[in-house]
Amino acid sequence: LEHNRSTERMIFPTVDYRRGIVRILDQTRLPLEEHVLELRGPEEVAAAIRELKVRGAPAIGIAAAYGMLAALEKIMKRGSGDRAGYLFDRVEGAREIPAHGITAENIRDELAGARALLASTRPTAVNLFWALDRIEAALGAAGDDPVQMGRRVAKEAFAIHEEELEVELAIGRHGSPLIRNGMNILTHCNAGGLATAGYGTALGVLYWAFEEGKRFTVYADETRPLLQGARITTWELRRRGIETILLCDNAAASLFAAGRIDAAIVGADRIAANGDTANKIGTLGVAILCERFGKPFYVAAPWSTFDTKIPSGSEIPIEERGSREVTAFWGRETAPPGTTVYNPAFDVTPASLVTAIVTERGIMERPGEGTIRRFAAGAG
Ligand code: MRU
Repeated sequence: LEHNRSTERMIFPTVDYRRGIVRILDQTRLPLEEHVLELRGPEEVAAAIRELKVRGAPAIGIAAAYGMLAALEKIMKRGSGDRAGYLFDRVEGAREIPAHGITAENIRDELAGARALLASTRPTAVNLFWALDRIEAALGAAGDDPVQMGRRVAKEAFAIHEEELEVELAIGRHGSPLIRNGMNILTHCNAGGLATAGYGTALGVLYWAFEEGKRFTVYADETRPLLQGARITTWELRRRGIETILLCDNAAASLFAAGRIDAAIVGADRIAANGDTANKIGTLGVAILCERFGKPFYVAAPWSTFDTKIPSGSEIPIEERGSREVTAFWGRETAPPGTTVYNPAFDVTPASLVTAIVTERGIMERPGEGTIRRFAAGAG
């Protein structure tokens, strides 16, 4: 856990760009090991996203931006002949860029290839495409001077990272009033610091409330098949000293029935123009339970997760992942060989089941076309 001096908050080191290298905390090794991977070039970043070494909608957006920067670093260093050094660093910014022998065309070609590769990794979280679009726009605005192109792209990648962290803190601050002392709150998957720039969205709301002195209990769904809840959410919450109870996904209904859940809060991977929300598979079940038992169902998400170009949730592409995630568990077979598997990574919760969406622009109650249009115009 890092203490961020500018924010005065505890921030997890999820993803970073230091001295020409993308650094990520390998989430597939948690909770056993805290291992930082050093990724060079867009191919390695794309593989890390695909394999969920870095995951969660905002975090993969930032990682994709840094994947583009790694591509730029590679080609510009090739042009400069400077093999030992590095060009870009989040803290130091861009160093002197000696772009001899490299043309605007070379850079555009390299980045177009990197974009295609990174865009092919995971289809559901719109933050990935949002970040790639921002980098592309920065490149487009830089003109034909390679040095300017380098500077603009680096500035944009670091801005994406920095702004997302600010946004998460704003989400925490806006959402905190929803959390009261003594509450029992259910969450699904991981929408914490490791899914984001380092603070969190759904868990960010809980962190802010906790930092304000409120005390409550978090029930964490283990989140099959890959256990983001068991491995990552409980790890984060325990690090912060928040009372946490882990449960199997299929235990949630019995808790609601026993009156032991007061609210649910989750993150999102993509929110359509009408408020339909994609999130980790199993989220829809939690939302239905909230409706059945009369409890609020909250979503916390940055504006970068809204995709107002698509009218409804039925247009959200849902990633289907490999069968091995279901037929084997940490190296051990759990189903007979040849078993047919259905393994969607996300589901869509209709807007009608969402009590409110906490954004950096404020709390959006009863999300729908009208409220989302108002928030898009900057209201909050
Ligand atoms: O497959 P994952 O682990 O990337 O899925 C992550 C989620 O579903 C999160 O809830 C979502 O990305 C929001 S993260 C703030």
